[in-house]
Amino acid sequence: MKAGSAAEDLISRAVDLFQSGLALATSFSIEDVALIHMLVSADPGKKATILAIDTGRLPEDTFACAQALIRKYAIEIEWLYPNPQRLANFVSSQGLYSFKESLEARKECCYIRKVEPLRRRLRTLSAWITGQRREQTHLRSQLQVVEIDKANGSIVKLNPLCYWTSEQVFQYVKHNNIPYSRLYDRGYKSIGCAPCTRPVAPHEDERAGRWWWESDEHKECGIHVGEANTACANDRQ
Ligand code: ADX
Ligand code: SF4
Repeated sequence: MKAGSAAEDLISRAVDLFQSGLALATSFSIEDVALIHMLVSADPGKKATILAIDTGRLPEDTFACAQALIRKYAIEIEWLYPNPQRLANFVSSQGLYSFKESLEARKECCYIRKVEPLRRRLRTLSAWITGQRREQTHLRSQLQVVEIDKANGSIVKLNPLCYWTSEQVFQYVKHNNIPYSRLYDRGYKSIGCAPCTRPVAPHEDERAGRWWWESDEHKECGIHVGEANTACANDRQ
């Protein structure tokens, strides 16, 4: 089977089935740029939406990567933003770096800047695609390709790269000449907001550079946690 074809097929079937009720959520990670490439060929009529949450703290290279993809594929990105009043109240009461003060404060920042804006949009959709992979973290080791997202109104959640290794993703991106964030060439292996992401040493775990002051079991921003998701079938690909 051709590299990527199961994931490409899944995205094609999702476009046919859900049409404008489908969205791909992208942080412009290496996984997400591969998925954008797949979606562009599966969806020439651009029925599905490409969503990105601008938390207000993203690295400059993330925007540069977004712009390179917009140019190459002539795609539109729907940017989602935190509720402005809620964010203003949060920053004026807690300051700009409250996420370093405690786990609860960090989760509050992620909730206001990421989780709530995404949830608001997911309510209007039938299905969404993410770039999560089992290998990324122990917390994702039970991930399924097709899930019911109970935390978001039981819409369908697709993780087409669920069983891919990091190496396979990089090979796919390089093979298809897909633009990707330059931060990966500077030692980053997983990329979120600028103040909560650092490069990692070659021997370190791929998520070691995310919220590096916290222990591994907490390293989720919250958009993929909540009520447990249900697998849709035996969907091993
Ligand atoms: S996180 O929970 O640690 O932040 P991670 O960075 O691994 O998540 O990203 C996993 C997937 O969540 C991405 O492939 C993408 O589908 C979605 N995602 C994460 N951050 C964003 C964002 N800022 N905008 C849109 N989707 C995002
Ligand atoms: Fe806030 Fe950091 Fe979460 Fe971004 S990753 S929303 S800056 S705590």
